[in-house]
Amino acid sequence: MTHDAIYKVTPDAAKITLTTKEKAEADRARAKENPEEFWASVAQRLTWSKPFTKVKDVSFDAKDLHINWFEDGELNASVNCLDRHLEKHGDDIAIIWEGDDPDTHKNITYREAFEETCRMANILKARGVNRGDRVAIYMPMVPEAAYAMLACARIGAVHTVVFGGFSPDALASRINDCNAVAVITADEGVRGGRTVPLKANVDKALKQVDSVRFVLTIERTGGKVEMTPGRDLFWYNEARNDVAPDCPAEPMKAEDPLFILYTSGSTGTPKGVLHTTGGYLAFVAYTHEAVFDYRPGDIYWCTADVGWVTGHSYIVYGPLANRATTLIFEGVPTYPDASRFWNVIDKHNVEIFYTAPTALRALMREGDELVKKTNRSSLRLLGSVGEPINPEAWSWYHRVVGDGKLPIVDTWWQTETGGILISPLPGATDLKPGSATLPLPGIEPAIVDAQGNFLEGACTGNLVLTTSWPGQMRSVYGDHQRFIDTYFKTYPGMYFTGDGVRRDEDGYYWITGRVDDVINVSGHRMGTAEVESALVSHPAVAEAAVVGYPHDIKGQGIYAYVTLMEGTEPSEALEKELSKTVRAEIGPIAKPDLLHFTPALPKTRSGKIMRRILRKIAENHFSALGDTSTLADPSVVDALIEGRKNR
Ligand code: WT7
Repeated sequence: MTHDAIYKVTPDAAKITLTTKEKAEADRARAKENPEEFWASVAQRLTWSKPFTKVKDVSFDAKDLHINWFEDGELNASVNCLDRHLEKHGDDIAIIWEGDDPDTHKNITYREAFEETCRMANILKARGVNRGDRVAIYMPMVPEAAYAMLACARIGAVHTVVFGGFSPDALASRINDCNAVAVITADEGVRGGRTVPLKANVDKALKQVDSVRFVLTIERTGGKVEMTPGRDLFWYNEARNDVAPDCPAEPMKAEDPLFILYTSGSTGTPKGVLHTTGGYLAFVAYTHEAVFDYRPGDIYWCTADVGWVTGHSYIVYGPLANRATTLIFEGVPTYPDASRFWNVIDKHNVEIFYTAPTALRALMREGDELVKKTNRSSLRLLGSVGEPINPEAWSWYHRVVGDGKLPIVDTWWQTETGGILISPLPGATDLKPGSATLPLPGIEPAIVDAQGNFLEGACTGNLVLTTSWPGQMRSVYGDHQRFIDTYFKTYPGMYFTGDGVRRDEDGYYWITGRVDDVINVSGHRMGTAEVESALVSHPAVAEAAVVGYPHDIKGQGIYAYVTLMEGTEPSEALEKELSKTVRAEIGPIAKPDLLHFTPALPKTRSGKIMRRILRKIAENHFSALGDTSTLADPSVVDALIEGRKNR
């Protein structure tokens, strides 16, 4: 099989009903001919308390950068995700919660989700959280995490969900960046049979924070936690008893912020990616329906964590806006054993399953038997997200998980894009393993060379978008200039994704990975600069340079080159300590996979570290180092190669 082999998937076999080749082509043509009319029709799927009359006001010109969609319209995201379904579908299942322990699960109706969200909104209001205030959410994968997000949306507060795997320091810096006034957390999280001390982490973080006045703690385990009087309340044992199960929704302007989500960039501290209400919600609802062929009643499961954008767009907002049944899974793919995903699919009759290549690679290694002993006949569509899916993993997903019958939607997008931009439409797009295939209707990607010239036809270059789409991020919270500088300066007049891409002769897109100093570890974005800054915070470290290298399971691993202070010797103990330092500064996901102590780093005469060389050495590509003559001390390279060979 060549990697370009086409899988023609007939809609019949896959039970695809919403998209056909004809419909997809018609939508593409319509969106091209009259984009405003197309996006207006997409936005009509929402319930607006005040209809919009203006569709779009956008400029990608760095001197006058602005992005506005449906600007004069008003709506509330929680009303769209909950209230509007109640009259006819209040008893339909909104959320299936599957606990870490395979014997625990809960079905939650739309009415219950509505009431819980309202209760939480009421306690936020009672504790002085106002429209526009920021609220940090640091939660395990429990339904209350979704209620917390929707409760913020209901009162017009802006949530920032911080992944529960981030350290107290990382949590504190995010809270401080946006001056959050409240935190919603849980006593402890539970993952893979182990507890995570979330509330204790919040307490630690808040030692470095002044802005937080209120901490709401959901009792997940009932484990012992410390409570600060006047600041902290338990949810079930305290706050929830005093609040009503309904709460009026704030009418929000389409361009009012809905949430901030921090993500790593190539430089500096994580950026607060700002998404607004109307465009974002319309876009994620539309793409959730189109890409996943979603019809109400289908059981849909996205395995991401709500701490990442995938969880925001395709566990909470998109699905609930579409009146979906969305499965929230608390656990990990390998607990109690590596057939957990497939068992959960059988237990709840999951029809649409959306996961990440890193999980597939890990499970693939455990052998086919763990999959084959399960039934999976409920499945009709598989999805992939987060990183390029290697053709081997694609084929295994298709052949073993999908019994050779189901389409796979390989969805390319980013925190910044809010939702999926490049993906097959099931039933309409022939598939090639490893390719995200074609842009969705209304999406205008282009490929440029390093100078910004457009490349035509089959080519390789950098991926840009030449026009806006409603789900696009609007700014970096608190730093609009950084938004402009990061995304609109490299190629003037265009949004630069940071990704490299190849387009083949059929016009299919093959994402090749980041072209900046961002690495993708298990589908999670990690700025090399962040890991470096964590490493040099240790007193023994003089300098650090971090690059990605190919890793069988994670896609990319973290390779850290470290030089030590004069008089300090490398040792295993020090290596452990540095690893601990990175955990404390960022979290376990940032821990280097390989740590390489070296007496020196390759630098130019002006003192710039030559990362290109470090990348090649980390990749074991010693013959492809390119020109090393501009180095201040070319002999450094030989020492580095020796060091690489020894690990
Ligand atoms: C980066 C964005 C999209 C939500 C999860 C990650 C890479 C994402 C794919 C894909 C190839 C992909 C890109 C992108 N990426 N999906 N289907 N094929 N690469 O969001 O953390 O903002 O990361 O993930 O490099 O730029 P994120």
